[in-house]
Amino acid sequence: MIAPRLLAELHAMFSADRVATDADSLARYGLDWTRYYQPAPSAVVFPQTVDEVVAVVQWANREQVALVPSGGRTGLSGGAVARQGEVVVSFDRMKAISDFDPVARTVRCQAGVITEALQQFAAENGLYYPVDFASRGSSQIGGNIATNAGGIKVVRYGMTREWVAGLTVVTGKGEVLRLNNGLAKNNTGYDLRHLFVGSEGTLGFIVDATLKLARQPAELGVMVLAVPQLTDIMKLFHAFRERLDLNAFEFFSEKAMRHVLARGHVKRPFEGEADYYVLLEFEKLAADTEEVALAVFEACAEQGWLVDGVLSQSEQQAKDLWRLREDISESITPYKPYKNDIAVTVSRVPAFVERLDAILSREYPDFEVLWYGHIGDGNLHINILKPDALELDDFRRACEQVNEHVFSLVGEFGGSMSAEHGVGLLKRDYLDVTRSVEEIALMRAIKAVFDPNGVMNPGKLL
Ligand code: MLT
Ligand code: ZN
Repeated sequence: MIAPRLLAELHAMFSADRVATDADSLARYGLDWTRYYQPAPSAVVFPQTVDEVVAVVQWANREQVALVPSGGRTGLSGGAVARQGEVVVSFDRMKAISDFDPVARTVRCQAGVITEALQQFAAENGLYYPVDFASRGSSQIGGNIATNAGGIKVVRYGMTREWVAGLTVVTGKGEVLRLNNGLAKNNTGYDLRHLFVGSEGTLGFIVDATLKLARQPAELGVMVLAVPQLTDIMKLFHAFRERLDLNAFEFFSEKAMRHVLARGHVKRPFEGEADYYVLLEFEKLAADTEEVALAVFEACAEQGWLVDGVLSQSEQQAKDLWRLREDISESITPYKPYKNDIAVTVSRVPAFVERLDAILSREYPDFEVLWYGHIGDGNLHINILKPDALELDDFRRACEQVNEHVFSLVGEFGGSMSAEHGVGLLKRDYLDVTRSVEEIALMRAIKAVFDPNGVMNPGKLL
């Protein structure tokens, strides 16, 4: 914990309602959705201006205090965890949306803008913010950028990085940088904006962003397909993608879906059961798009790649079908799942899943293993549920042992050990699965340039 003198200085810097030291706030703001850590920050501060962010960073440098950035804290790798007396800097009071430019199709958001608020703003102005995921109602733009959030539409629209046209950041030294200024073209050397995207709060604070917006999609069709063989999923991907403009191509296992069904909010999509399901979404750009989708469905059924399916007939039905996939994460949270979030190049998915399936069945015969994810991006979420009888630490240790096998396979396939959830605390010790020794040394050197005193989110990522 920081000394009382330092707390008094924070109180002098911020008005009373913008410094929190009560137990509830410390517990809430010291933790993200990773449920493995014990939160223990010293204080939480709520700046309202860039100058206030600069002031707290300069103070932290003077006093050698560690700072942890805090957005919606929906991360799954412990990137926003404060457990060693750090001061948490929350962006809850920086929520302005401004400078909408309908011609450039950009808008400026302060770091604390909720993802869904931006999506709504875009829709009200006839446009679309396409980065989307289940935590849209609480995740914040600053956190999305700091973690380069992915989600359910990456196959069509890419990750958050694609949508960042400009950034204002406060570096770990307390300098304010305005990066790229919303420009579509700016070929003037190193693009520092992209260093901050995905930097997990280790280089500085993102205080606002100019984001690109897209045209609103046409009416969307959602299909759920029952697929007996995991390795056939990519055949379906290829077949549907050839004929349709896919906005999403997701998969989940029957075992995973059962956790969603058990909550009683949505029903099984059809009678037929299979070990796996695909959810795909497409844009109805032509009058005959639905017929095309059904023709592909028939052709795939003839091949035996799918055994049942449904195509949404209303917006409500499309939403309900999406819930089968989107609600998985929340419905398994009570089981404190050990999360693997891995990716390989999409063309290598079939060979990879075959090998991975063999490893998981061999190494986890007694654990419930759930498969789901963004398979059209080559991104698999593999969640292992903690058996009630097992202590959390023993469970984690068991899972980490299996990581050796899983990550060596990821390495063999040239994949990523964290496709979209980031590294944070949880995956820090595995960074070398995906990044070379030379790269990690350069990453450390870059951090030292932006944050020479190491006040920014220490212990995360590197
Ligand atoms: C998802 O795809 O559902 C999210 O990444 C969350 C999760 O993996 O649990
Ligand atoms: Zn995901």
